[in-house]
Amino acid sequence: MQFIDLITQKNRIRTSLMQRIETIVDHGQYIMGPEVIELEKQLAAYVGTKYCVSCSSGTDALLMPLMAKGVGVGDAVLTTPFTFVATAEVISLVGATPVFVDVMPGTFNIDPDLVAPAVEAARAKGLNPKAIIPVDLFGLPAEYDRLEKVSDELGLWILEDAAQGFGGTFRGKRAGSFGLVGATSFFPAKPLGCYGDGGAVFTDDDELDRLLRSVRVHGQGDGDDKYQNVRVGINGRLDTIQAAVLIEKLAIFDDELVERQRVADAYSSRLKDRLQVPEVPSGYSSSWAQYSLLAHSTAEREQIMEALKQAGIPSVIYYRIPLHLQKAYEGLGYRRGDFPLSEGFSERIFSLPMHPYLEEAEIDRICSVILTA
Ligand SMILES: Cc1ncc(COP(=O)(O)O)c(C=O)c1O
Repeated sequence: MQFIDLITQKNRIRTSLMQRIETIVDHGQYIMGPEVIELEKQLAAYVGTKYCVSCSSGTDALLMPLMAKGVGVGDAVLTTPFTFVATAEVISLVGATPVFVDVMPGTFNIDPDLVAPAVEAARAKGLNPKAIIPVDLFGLPAEYDRLEKVSDELGLWILEDAAQGFGGTFRGKRAGSFGLVGATSFFPAKPLGCYGDGGAVFTDDDELDRLLRSVRVHGQGDGDDKYQNVRVGINGRLDTIQAAVLIEKLAIFDDELVERQRVADAYSSRLKDRLQVPEVPSGYSSSWAQYSLLAHSTAEREQIMEALKQAGIPSVIYYRIPLHLQKAYEGLGYRRGDFPLSEGFSERIFSLPMHPYLEEAEIDRICSVILTA
């Protein structure tokens, strides 16, 4: 059994995808070809923002807005320690300081009530808090109504980490469209993934869109001379062939979201009396990047994961070490006990196979192994 089945999906789109790839091989615009422009239009329309700037990964999609906004040494950017390392890594890469804020029980997303005290503590240390990066963890958008209110009050702007959230919604708005700017990843395992690395940035802000396009190509200027560099940038472009893959996958994405929801519902109805199943509060929908359960203890998690392994069923822990306890972030001075919810989740959480092509019989088998473990 696969943790994520990309083969069945590939078989579904293979004919039209191969035609598109052949067109690109023949037209020869391998970088910034017409498919990239077409994809950006489609993605902006899908997410509901004025602009979409495609790029080379979800990490660059987070990095580019920080660079474009001039975040740097002496600045603080708030985020959660219960996320993939890239969320905090980009803050460090621009020379700013990550300031961690614990998550909420139930949704695993950043707790808006803890943002103001963290800002105060950062200011007391002489840092200048500029922005907040809420993460749409496992596919569920963070609590943007409260986050937007608190960030307005504190003078922060929001960079939404929708790397996992793409396809999720909150009050009818799609993930990627919250805050000043949103970032997503098209890593193959993501809800919308390409066949390599890829990402995109979303915004309604004209000036930010202009800056992002410049940062994406080595800080090039607006003029005709592409070798005129007006700011420090990166090589952050999305390959044309990856854009073609994404155009084909976007066409079946809504249908796949329905299937992901089917799988999540089936898991939750069978497992809810045995383990803590993921919560989707009213007004939200998840893209189910991961279906993550909480065991009652680390020992129980190990027992269930071992039983799954014996049955040939893959399961994965996201995330075993919260970022404030990672060696790379030792220098920030955090200690065990600083973020009790993140720490507690990392000791008990595990994720089950999740993809749109998981069959009822497979779901039954996974659940019966868990229920008898
Ligand atoms: C929450 C989160 N942020 C950022 C990233 C980075 O995306 P990428 O791997 O495309 O650079 C990921 C991807 O794994 C992620 O899960």
